[in-house]
Amino acid sequence: MTENEKLTDPDKDPKVDQLGDGKVPNELPHHSWFFRHHGKIERNATLLLGLSLAVVTVGGIVEIAPLFYLENTIEEVEGVRPYSPLELTGREIYIREGCYVCHSQMIRPMRDEVERYGHYSLAAESMYDHPFQWGSKRTGPDLARVGGRYSDEWHVLHLTDPQAVVPESVMPKYGFLADRLIDGQYVEDLLSAHRAVGVPYTDEMIDVAWADFSVQTDPFGDWDGLVERYPGAQVRNFDGAPGISEMDALIAYLQMLGTLVDFSTFTPDASR
Ligand code: HEC
Repeated sequence: MTENEKLTDPDKDPKVDQLGDGKVPNELPHHSWFFRHHGKIERNATLLLGLSLAVVTVGGIVEIAPLFYLENTIEEVEGVRPYSPLELTGREIYIREGCYVCHSQMIRPMRDEVERYGHYSLAAESMYDHPFQWGSKRTGPDLARVGGRYSDEWHVLHLTDPQAVVPESVMPKYGFLADRLIDGQYVEDLLSAHRAVGVPYTDEMIDVAWADFSVQTDPFGDWDGLVERYPGAQVRNFDGAPGISEMDALIAYLQMLGTLVDFSTFTPDASR
């Protein structure tokens, strides 16, 4: 028998083991060291489960752990800044009222979404959101870039009586927000809480948070410092009524959503 015949005919190859009816050639003889030991694992369900878990855990750690140390996991984007005290208060109201149950804040990079809502969302745009408001349900439209899309008056009318603007809307009425005046006395604590989870509020920002909170609805006030601390902050009486109400705070928040990054000059890192 030539060397070649041995290799093409498994029956004649001494290194090939025949199992059962002899139709399934096995590369390794089943009495080899590897199969003897692997057999133990295969016959013991608990051991197999435990070892599979160990293998998957190692794989998971290798993939996930570096993300906690990489500086560039979130690409820094020019214009993104922490929320101003009034906007942050509005965001609290947004969460309290459960707006996220019907509205997402995450535009996916697909054509239909980008054409409807604008540039897809960047990770950096929600880097100061604790917790993030991406949402998972769109009973209403995505709100990630609703800022500047409508006037303040539209928002007051729509929040007060959504059906007055969109007759078939299933959105609840939130008119009571206009009657609830707030004085922001706890806003410093709110900023401190966000600093504790990683938002870079400075001592100065926290010290003057209450003043910043009040001045954002007062176009005649001294808001230079506010705009310096929070570039692009919009200053006006959002609900058009005297006093600062929850409506003011919520609209201040809605009107800044998605407006911080200038997409006429933005190029993603990957395409630079
Ligand atoms: C029960 C679901 C539901 C809840 C809760 C809800 N909305 Fe809506 N929202 C809708 C629907 C549906 C629409 C689309 C029809 C309309 O404009 O009213 C909508 C539209 C909107 C729009 C206009 C978006 C656009 O691009 O036209 C804004 C802004 C908005 N909602 C804000 C809010 C805020 C703020 C809250 C929380 C205070 C809230 N919604 C709670 C269902 C909801």
